[in-house]
Amino acid sequence: MGLFGFFKQQTSNKKALDISKLKVDMHSHLIPGIDDGAKSMDETIALLTKFESLGYSKIITTPHIKNPSYPNTSAIILSGLNEVRKEMEAVGITLTLEAAAEYYFDETFLEKVKNLDVLTFGDNYVLFEFSFYHAPSFEEVLFDELIKAGYKPVIAHFERYLYFLGSIEKAVEWRKRGVNIQINLLSLTGHYGMEIKKQAEMLIDACEFDFVGSDCHRMEHLTLLEESLNLPQLEKLNNYLLKNKFL
Ligand SMILES: [Fe+2]
Repeated sequence: MGLFGFFKQQTSNKKALDISKLKVDMHSHLIPGIDDGAKSMDETIALLTKFESLGYSKIITTPHIKNPSYPNTSAIILSGLNEVRKEMEAVGITLTLEAAAEYYFDETFLEKVKNLDVLTFGDNYVLFEFSFYHAPSFEEVLFDELIKAGYKPVIAHFERYLYFLGSIEKAVEWRKRGVNIQINLLSLTGHYGMEIKKQAEMLIDACEFDFVGSDCHRMEHLTLLEESLNLPQLEKLNNYLLKNKFL
């Protein structure tokens, strides 16, 4: 191998190493045609192939369940998962694919929790999101119901809620009562704007988070992530004990 080849290999090895330490991604939209993520099976397969090449070994995909825009059910998601797994086997993708959901925080979600009709990942974790624009008003009730039912709440992309920008106090308060906080890796690239990037960095600096996820909807997201593998924040993430590792 020539000198150039040697350096090239070193660089690509380093790149692959940073992100592959995470191994597991717990937030994405990869079931074709049921939300605003992958639109076709071909797109799903391309995304999973890319995840594999980035060093991931397990993907937990989390389609939206949000009325009326994405009226998905557990059955719809699990049957979609089955179809994708068949296709993965046909094309030789070996990473593990599982599915949960990203629930939108409203009364219908609370009803599902009460009926124990909730898709979970890992050790009974449940991923849900708030409105980006309006602060939630009965979240304490939901947290209590979830915890009482034996679920572990995970709030999706805390740094993206506009009404919390500039303060991570709520994340600190909620974590104290057993709620997990998830950060989107894409926030660190500035993809959603500089204020959101700053908010994500504040959570990381204070170590007030539990999971990180790609929230991948399309190839652009993984390309951005790949280009940002050497961000200083990613190196910091590797130094923390992320729950991703135990999923
Ligand atoms: Fe999402």
